[in-house]
Amino acid sequence: MKRIGVLTSGGDCSGINATLKAIVEEAYKNNIRVTGFLEGYNGLVNNLAIELTPLQVSGILQRGGTILMTSRCEEFMQESGFKKALKTLEEEKIEGLIVIGGDGSLRGAKKLAESGIVCVGIPESIDNDIYGTDMALGVDTALNIITNAIDIIRDTASSHKRAFVIETMGRESGYLALMSAMASGAEAVLIPEVEYDIDSIMNRLKQEHERGRKYSIVVVAEGVKKTQEVTEKLKKEVGFDTRVTILGHIQRGGNPSVFDRTLGMRLGIKAVQSLINKKFGMVGLQGSDIKNVAFDVVFSNKKVFSQMMLEFARLKSR
Ligand code: F6P
Repeated sequence: MKRIGVLTSGGDCSGINATLKAIVEEAYKNNIRVTGFLEGYNGLVNNLAIELTPLQVSGILQRGGTILMTSRCEEFMQESGFKKALKTLEEEKIEGLIVIGGDGSLRGAKKLAESGIVCVGIPESIDNDIYGTDMALGVDTALNIITNAIDIIRDTASSHKRAFVIETMGRESGYLALMSAMASGAEAVLIPEVEYDIDSIMNRLKQEHERGRKYSIVVVAEGVKKTQEVTEKLKKEVGFDTRVTILGHIQRGGNPSVFDRTLGMRLGIKAVQSLINKKFGMVGLQGSDIKNVAFDVVFSNKKVFSQMMLEFARLKSR
């Protein structure tokens, strides 16, 4: 194997640059050169190839975002765009491709693999909704950002005797909301995976309020789409002066945590080794090891919460 390619696709997160550094360094150790494709699958469709050398990836480990840039590329999903992508891989003499991305991007990698491209996927998404990896890249950094934000908000909430509704990202996954609610001691949490009872939450918070509780923090996953309703009810039914904080894209940037730096490096090394050893599919964190997981296994299973986390969610959502 003389040359491999790499691209970063879908929503970005922290830890991707550490992964790119590990990929390039591991490839060079094995006398393999690396082509980076800019802007995700758009870089394959429109041949936006650049040479990635160890020098180019030095000093990037601690930076958020992705030096390769990213996109959600519609054209790649069309047959004509997909054919252009295959042509680019041939033109650039790519013998193996690493795709760093979330669910949709890894499905693209699976499609490439089914067309005969030697392909390895690295799971990256703050949503942590990818089966086959305990943690996707970027989740830990996002959780730290959210938890810090809730700690900060708690200071002002308690000073003003207010309730705060905090909306987290995650699409249809409530992982960020649930874990940050646990880590920050939020009074209530709403996630798509667990049935919630807003009226019962309000009764509980009202009773606590009447017993002297000065403030309340309610974390709502964006996927439940109840931020406004919960805010109105906290005002009208519980009697709290209430504010909303939608955390938004601050959850996707910033310097990666130590966990995401080391996870990214380990996934990057394993991805290159997998290409060399012809073990295709996704690489993921399972327990304390980085393992190979077939794309079919990734996409025919659904990631679920542990029993303990489900019970915690039930307790906090009524
Ligand atoms: O999938 C990652 C994610 O950050 C989701 O949590 C969120 O819903 C979405 O991407 C936001 O997408 P965009 O950056 O395109 O607004």
